[in-house]
Amino acid sequence: MNSSDSLEEYILRHIDEEPELLREIHRETHLKLLHGIMVSGHLQGRLLKMLVRMIHPSQVLEIGTYTGYSALCIAEGLEGDGRLHTIEIDDELEEMILRNFGRSALANRITLHIGDAAALLPGFEDGFFDLAFLDGDKRNYWQIYEATLPKVKSGGFLLADNTLWHGKILEPTSSDRQTRGIQEFNERLASDNRVEKVILPLRDGLTLIRKK
Ligand SMILES: C[S@@+](CC[C@H](N)C(=O)[O-])C[C@H]1O[C@@H](n2cnc3c(N)ncnc32)[C@H](O)[C@@H]1O
Repeated sequence: MNSSDSLEEYILRHIDEEPELLREIHRETHLKLLHGIMVSGHLQGRLLKMLVRMIHPSQVLEIGTYTGYSALCIAEGLEGDGRLHTIEIDDELEEMILRNFGRSALANRITLHIGDAAALLPGFEDGFFDLAFLDGDKRNYWQIYEATLPKVKSGGFLLADNTLWHGKILEPTSSDRQTRGIQEFNERLASDNRVEKVILPLRDGLTLIRKK
């Protein structure tokens, strides 16, 4: 165990516990799917819930449902008539996602849309969302951000996951399209005057963005 492992363990022992259902979804995702590492996990999941509690959104968008872990964390933070629309491109995940949502009392707050976010986003009204969590394909991160921004109201927030990409964003000439997609996103966002932004070095980077 290195020192950052023990620091992470320390953090996890001193924050809210991961709910049992989420622990099971995390375990099942790692057992059954190839890229289990994509699940938000205990720390980021609790942060997502806390950010939702702080923002009090009525309508939330998520791009990239995967097995539903982060969607359930977001839904946990919703109050009143708050709702989450979550978009997943991989229709083979639909059954597992719906089963996971169905095991939660929060299922009635979540609408799953199966399809490509780029195709589905134009179907939402401009300014509809108070909060958007971007966690889909990193190769087109900037294009998805551009398509999402009009759908978020002025004063609303976007969260973009994986923006430090395990430190790979520091590689000046990467041949990996996901790394290049995130580098392009970070570069263009840095000079985007439509928004305020800050990068949290949590896990592999979470950028908090506020639309002016
Ligand atoms: C990192 S995983 C999401 C993890 C999930 N948000 C969580 O924290 O548990 C990324 C997901 O985005 C989906 N995805 C990729 N491109 C997409 C697109 N264009 N539209 C919708 N979903 C997409 C992938 O199929 C994958 O399931």
